[in-house]
Amino acid sequence: MHVRIAVLASGRGSNLGALIDAQRGGNLPVHIVGVFSDKPSAPALALARESNIPTAHLDPRDFAQRLAFDLAAFATIAKWKPELIVLAGFMRILDPRAFEPWLGRIINIHPSLLPKYPGLHTHRRVLAAGDRQHGASVHFVTAELDGGPVLAQVMVDVRRGDTEQGLAERLLPREHALIVACVDQLARHRLHWSNEGIRMDGQPLACPLVLADDGTLETRA
Ligand code: GRF
Repeated sequence: MHVRIAVLASGRGSNLGALIDAQRGGNLPVHIVGVFSDKPSAPALALARESNIPTAHLDPRDFAQRLAFDLAAFATIAKWKPELIVLAGFMRILDPRAFEPWLGRIINIHPSLLPKYPGLHTHRRVLAAGDRQHGASVHFVTAELDGGPVLAQVMVDVRRGDTEQGLAERLLPREHALIVACVDQLARHRLHWSNEGIRMDGQPLACPLVLADDGTLETRA
């Protein structure tokens, strides 16, 4: 049975593209039921349309209050009846009251090794701090910005002479593999999050899974 997923994206949509490719390749047991954006011109929407995926967008400027936009967004998304919502480059901070019904069924990909560097400009901040390692995290969305329980991470080394752009470019394909692997494990009902924390195959997950080179998720040694 394919799990119904909705994807929220504000921009380029390369993570969406990775999910579409994996699904088309028969490697991901999902049905992408819709793509939502807060930006009418988001390339992610064009990509969805090309792929015959339903799309919707709402413009925050049409709403007097942030919460009103967020509630309307989730009402729109709910019509697709997703079982899982994936934030893939959705660049708005959402009001927790709007996604409360989706807790445990909404995930986000963030380009840092959370809890380090929530928020913007992560690559720049990693370089400024002189970190030797960078990466990306997939976490369940909670009221805290980029602060929900982390399911899995991927690491990349920071190299001498790395630029912000170079580092971002090196990380991006690993992000793609990470989001695909996480959605895969959620769709296969191997990963769950509840009040007791994240469980993998029914066992508590002591720390985030790590993406291996072959694209599978491993428990940390
Ligand atoms: C990615 O780096 C993702 O981690 C972050 O926003 C970026 C989105 O890229 N949340 P794309 O739109 O999926 O290409």
